[in-house]
Amino acid sequence: MSNNLLKGKRGIIFGALNNQSIAWKVAEAAKAQGASFTLTNAPIAMRMGEIQKLAESCEAEIIPADATSLEDLEQLFEKSQEVLGGKIDFVLHSIGMSPNVRKGKPYDGTNYDWFQKTLDVSALSFHKTLQTAKKMDALNEWASVLGLTYIAAQRVFPDYNDMAEAKSLLESIARSFGYHYGTEKKVRVNTISQSPTVTTAGSGVKGFDAFINYAEEMSPLGNASAEDCANYCISLFSDLTKYVTMQNLFHDGGFSSTGVSRKVMDRFMED
Ligand SMILES: NC(=O)c1ccc[n+]([C@@H]2O[C@H](COP(=O)([O-])OP(=O)(O)OC[C@H]3O[C@@H](n4cnc5c(N)ncnc54)[C@H](O)[C@@H]3O)[C@@H](O)[C@H]2O)c1
Repeated sequence: MSNNLLKGKRGIIFGALNNQSIAWKVAEAAKAQGASFTLTNAPIAMRMGEIQKLAESCEAEIIPADATSLEDLEQLFEKSQEVLGGKIDFVLHSIGMSPNVRKGKPYDGTNYDWFQKTLDVSALSFHKTLQTAKKMDALNEWASVLGLTYIAAQRVFPDYNDMAEAKSLLESIARSFGYHYGTEKKVRVNTISQSPTVTTAGSGVKGFDAFINYAEEMSPLGNASAEDCANYCISLFSDLTKYVTMQNLFHDGGFSSTGVSRKVMDRFMED
């Protein structure tokens, strides 16, 4: 269903790797709501080639960029404005990667070079994106910039590893940059804290199946799907949420406010 909520808006969508990616669903929803946008991902992700299909169905140009490279980001904003014909109204940062998670390092045996890489890719890239956009004055007033995060920034989930620190930093950057960009240009910056979702990044976390089932039983509404996350992103890119900024917004079926659910309690009841 389309209400043309993003009609006439121009955007940049980072992080669509395959059709499970949250960014993929956001691109499809943004297209259905009348937006035009460019798609971007790390050059290494391009080799898998799946993003091409999305680009065709969304009539979007692909501009490769490593989100940790300021040079790539400058090119991305320059080319996107050229291709789309003006300044940008929305940006989705849907990026996460931890070499420590990937290579199975435990939290208390971390490799610090990899830890730095986790922070650079998963959090500082958000700052770099915002700083580049601001320096180039590439965003329109009331533009909306979103990052995706997880509740491990606030509570301990043992196997989420150094991604927990990366997400805390990401959420903090949204708040701080939201202040600076808001006062000067009325640009809003938020993070969405999403339920565990089956994607390439999500499934990389050890014990992901248990994780997702537990969250399902703890959440009064159940886990939020990637499609529903995309719909929430659209609402935040739209003009219906103009005064929402510097927030971390939970999109998790109520998980973050639940101490324990009956379903989980029932598992511990003695007959
Ligand atoms: N899947 C979940 O359970 C879940 C839950 C909450 C939040 N999130 C967050 O949602 C976001 C999207 O992840 P996803 O679950 O759709 O998985 P995904 O694996 O489909 O997306 C992650 C993306 O990050 C990209 N990326 C990695 N390094 C990059 C770099 N240097 N430059 C540019 N792009 C780079 C990857 O190519 C990939 O497209 C991430 O921030 C993730 O942490 C995911």
